[in-house]
Amino acid sequence: MKNYKIAAIPADGIGPEVIAAGLQALEAVARRDGGFNVDVTSFDWGSDYYKKHGMMMPENGTDQLKDFDAIFFGAVGAPDVPDHITLWGLRLPICQGFDQYANVRPTKILPGIQSPLAGVGPGDLDWVIVRENSEGEYSGHGGRAHRGLPEEVGTEVAIFTRVGVTRIMRYAFKLAQSRPRKLLTVVTKSNAQRHGMVMWDEIAAEVSKEFPDVTWDKMLVDAMTVRMTLKPQSLDTIVATNLHADILSDLAGALAGSLGVAPTGNIDPERRYPSMFEPIHGSAFDITGKGIANPVATFWTASQMLDHLGENKAAIRLMRAVEKVTEEGIVTPDIGGKATTKEVTEAVCEAIRGEN
Ligand code: NAI
Ligand code: MG
Repeated sequence: MKNYKIAAIPADGIGPEVIAAGLQALEAVARRDGGFNVDVTSFDWGSDYYKKHGMMMPENGTDQLKDFDAIFFGAVGAPDVPDHITLWGLRLPICQGFDQYANVRPTKILPGIQSPLAGVGPGDLDWVIVRENSEGEYSGHGGRAHRGLPEEVGTEVAIFTRVGVTRIMRYAFKLAQSRPRKLLTVVTKSNAQRHGMVMWDEIAAEVSKEFPDVTWDKMLVDAMTVRMTLKPQSLDTIVATNLHADILSDLAGALAGSLGVAPTGNIDPERRYPSMFEPIHGSAFDITGKGIANPVATFWTASQMLDHLGENKAAIRLMRAVEKVTEEGIVTPDIGGKATTKEVTEAVCEAIRGEN
C-alpha cells in the first residue's frame, strides 16, 4: 500500500480548525479507497511559536520538511504580530525555498452556493488562476534608506526573469491545454509598466507557439476585473504575475461565493521538493475558536494534494462528497448556512463513506 508522508502546518487563527477538518476528510477518503495511507506529522510553527522562540519556524525548518511528499498548510497571521513577519517567516520561505513557482487556484461556483453576481450559477464560472509564485512584485527585492528622516525612501522592485516567466507561461499553457476549453488569458499591465511586463507579453507569445491548440488572449489587469465580473463565462485558465494574481484570485473567490471555499496549491512542477496545499483565506481572527470556519477550501486543497500525489480517483471522490454536501445546504454561516465546521466535516466524511 502506498504511504504518503504529509507535513501538516496548521499555524494560526482558524488554521488549526480547518486543517483538523481536512485531515479527517483525507483519512476518510484514504480508508474508503483503501489503496493508500496518509502518514501525517504536525508542526507547531506559527505565531505562538514566534512568541516563544522569536521566529515563526526553526532555522532548519525547510530542511525538516524536504523529505515529505506534500505540505498541508493552514494560515498565518495574528493580531499582535506584524503581518510581514508572519508571512515572510513561514509561508514565503517554504514557497521560495522549495521553488514552488506555480500557484494554482481553481475557482468555481459549487452547487448550492450563491454567487453575488446576478444570474450566474455553477457552470458560468469555472476558472483556474495560475499565479507566478517565485518572483515579480513579491521577490523581496528593494530596501529603505534614511530611515525616519524626511528624505526617507522605500523601494519595492519587481523582478521578472526570462527563466521565471518562461516556466510559468509553459505551465499555464499546458494546464489550459489539459482542460476541455483549451483557453488561456494572459493578464498583463504592459501599457504602464514598459519593461518587465513587455517581456512578459513577448514570452507569452513565444511559448504560445508550442501550444498551437490553445486559444489565448491578453488582458490588462484593470480591464480583467471588469471582464471577471461582467463576462465570467468568457474565461477559463488565467495566468498572472504574483501581485496581479493575488488580487484577482481574491475577487475570484468572492465571485464564486466566499473566500471560505477557495483553495490553492503551491506547486513545484519539477517535483524536486514537496508542494504545499492551503486554503486561500487567512487566519480569520474574527471567527477563531467559534467553530464556524468554513472547511470547504481546505477540503478542496486536500483534493488538489491528492491529485498532485497521483491519487486522482480519491481526489475526485473527495470533491464529489463536498459538492453533495454544499448542494444539500449543509454549509457554514459565511455562505448563508447554519452548520458548524464539525457538522460540515462529518457530512463530508459520511458522503465519502456512502459513495459508490
Ligand atoms: P482572512 O482571510 O483571514 O479573513 C477575511 C474575512 O473572511 C473575515 O471576515 C473572515 O472571517 C472570513 N473568512 C476567511 N476564511 C474563512 C473561512 N474559512 N470560513 C468563514 N469565514 C472566513 O483575511 P484578513 O482578515 O485580511 O487577514 C487576517 C490575517 O490572516 C492577517 O494577519 C493576514 O495577514 C493573514 N492572512 C494569511 C494568509 C495565509 O496564511 N495564506 C492569507 C490571507 C491573510
Ligand atoms: Mg492574498
